[in-house]
Amino acid sequence: METEPTFLQTNPNAAVVGQPLSRVDGRAKVTGQAKYAAEYNTLPNLAHAVLKTSDIAHGRVERIDVSAARQQPGVLAIFTHENLPKLAKTPNTPDDKRETGAPMGYMPMTTDQIYYAAQPVAVVVADTLERAQYAATLVKVQYAVETPIASYQDPKAKLYIPESVQAGRAPGVAKRGNAESAFQSAPVQISATYTNATTHHNPMEPGATTAHWESTDRLTVYESTQGVSETQRTLSTMLGMPREQIRIITKYIGGGFGCKLWVWPHTVLTSLVAKAVGRPVKLVLTRPQQFTSMGLREEQQQDVKIGASQAGKLLSLIYEKRSTTSPWDEYAELNARIVGMLYDLPAYQSTYRLAHANVMTACATRAPGDAPGSYAIESAMDELAAKLGLDPLQIRLLNYADNDSSNGRPWSSKSLKECYARGAELIGWSKRNPKAGATREGKYLVGMGMASASYPVHPSQGNARVRLYADGNAVVQTGATDLGTGTYTIVTQVAADALGIAPEKVRCELGDTALPSTPWSGGSTAGGRVSSSVYLAAQDIWQKLIQMAVADAKSPLYRVLPADVTVTTGRMHLKADATKSETFSDLMKRASMGDIEGSAMGRYGSGYEAAQATTTGDEKPVQHSMNSFGAHFCEVHVDPELGTVRVKRWVSVIAGGRILNPKTARSQIMGGSIFGIGASLMEETVRDPNLARYTNASLADYHIPVNADIPELIVEFIDEKDPYINAMGAKGIGEIAIVGVSGAIANAVYHATGKRVRSLPITPNKVLESLREPV
Ligand code: MOS
Repeated sequence: METEPTFLQTNPNAAVVGQPLSRVDGRAKVTGQAKYAAEYNTLPNLAHAVLKTSDIAHGRVERIDVSAARQQPGVLAIFTHENLPKLAKTPNTPDDKRETGAPMGYMPMTTDQIYYAAQPVAVVVADTLERAQYAATLVKVQYAVETPIASYQDPKAKLYIPESVQAGRAPGVAKRGNAESAFQSAPVQISATYTNATTHHNPMEPGATTAHWESTDRLTVYESTQGVSETQRTLSTMLGMPREQIRIITKYIGGGFGCKLWVWPHTVLTSLVAKAVGRPVKLVLTRPQQFTSMGLREEQQQDVKIGASQAGKLLSLIYEKRSTTSPWDEYAELNARIVGMLYDLPAYQSTYRLAHANVMTACATRAPGDAPGSYAIESAMDELAAKLGLDPLQIRLLNYADNDSSNGRPWSSKSLKECYARGAELIGWSKRNPKAGATREGKYLVGMGMASASYPVHPSQGNARVRLYADGNAVVQTGATDLGTGTYTIVTQVAADALGIAPEKVRCELGDTALPSTPWSGGSTAGGRVSSSVYLAAQDIWQKLIQMAVADAKSPLYRVLPADVTVTTGRMHLKADATKSETFSDLMKRASMGDIEGSAMGRYGSGYEAAQATTTGDEKPVQHSMNSFGAHFCEVHVDPELGTVRVKRWVSVIAGGRILNPKTARSQIMGGSIFGIGASLMEETVRDPNLARYTNASLADYHIPVNADIPELIVEFIDEKDPYINAMGAKGIGEIAIVGVSGAIANAVYHATGKRVRSLPITPNKVLESLREPV
């Protein structure tokens, strides 16, 4: 199998890939030229929509009076469940939900039912935002109130084991070997319960939609979404229009973290009301609405039982998760995956328990499943190490999974040992006092902790198109959205190298369903998929031009075999004799071609491996498990009087295949570590246990880290070659950094104090409480 993209083999001096190029969209962003979904303000007659949301979490709208609001100047229309234009399909049944691709099994305002707090009950459309906002305050709603269920912890909640979670994505109960008997007979047993608070994605740019009906059968939506193609699909089904008549444009987005993977009600409502009023309509969620409109990470309890030998070898792991789901969905993030695969594990059992409650549906959030699941397994491993008097790093090496123990397959690549070794060196792990609660610096208790990180390679494929002009400029097009993390930049780098031109000569167009389609930027797939499809599209240009050259009597390559020709920096030449050559541009000019286009589908993950095996004629393709791996190490200072935890030092070492751009990659890892630190020490959305309403739905009350909370973050990458994942050998690194962060911090807090806090976030009250516990 080819291990290097051809241009990197033949073009060692010109490589832009692998260089720390600054973001090519940086200038547009800092000068305000970059247009976000809410900034298409020059659309003719742009009107503004505002949501009126429910004060109660459970019940029904008995009466809704819009008369006073309707009479206000500038008000164009007010929609409620009584007059909302009918949708072709609502996601209100499991079958219809599947068909729409909507994240939530209910569409608000299609009935009078209220299922969760701040559910939309009316949409007010006016000629200005202020007039819409004011009129919305005049909409009067009379509710028939029912007692809500606030969470799985509510005494009224009924926990049950579903057949599957996420409509079949994982079974309610999974078993490998006989975990129960292996646990019972294990000489060493650990049993612990960990809890995670509800958290929210909170991108800086809230959800925003500008819907423009150019005619009754042509809709353009400027949307803050991670996936234009998925948005087009869902709107097409719900509005009952061919996909081809709907265009979604997302040139820039200000963060997504999972909440912008799907079409939520506000987008559907904005599209509907724009058609009804016959004007383009813009709707931007307020920050409090952001907490109740685009999903969340569910609160959860994780019970872990580990059976091990006296030497610390894992014999059995029994994992149970309980969490809250919406009234209509069976959603739980898939924690069991990482719990069952991170270590060599002969027997394993996982169970999901759900309770329906009056909340909107939870959804993928910043390494869904893997982030909270890693907190449980990495804490439990630390507890096992402490119980046996083993070093936390040693116990991980002792249980290192050379193969994926969930299915026995070899890894396509795994450099976790290298990550451990380098991380330990950078933090000075060898200087750590093995005894917990024994290191002080002034009044502070000092602790060092570590944890493993991993994130799966989710298979995906998508298309790209590259156009090279004879004058040496190029345009690259693919529908992918750049979440702000560097997609524009890496695409530019790949195209520049593959075409042998400077990155300044490449213009990159993304985020539009009019461009070649590619799935959402989610699940850490975009970098691996998009870089491959762009590389292969450029290769398509190579092949077309080589075919032309060998058939052209005026070319130095006339009548040579195409297979004997390769390309270095935009010059085609014989592999055996580089002097027999001509440039792309000479050939194109001679042929009077202004430009040439190449296109390709790039694959990421198992589909790529299978396709490669087919082309190389392997009888039986080896099936690899594919994951990125890494390790976090940190030092914390705990104030025993105040209970505060401060992260003083931080090291992340990540192996993610080829690193396309070390600068944007480092930013990814820093960002993931920072929001991991947030989830570990601060982030918590508090749902009132009686009213099922959030009490801290603002960035003043929902705490996230600021600069003063974050030390210098040391990030390194392990050089790793992986020939199985895609044409570029690049693994996704969008989410791996948050995985393991909470484990590393919780373990460091234990090492500092000798007491374990088994509940996230680790806030001062919990630390103080733990310090009062007897040893
Ligand atoms: Mo990610 S949670 O798949 O945006």
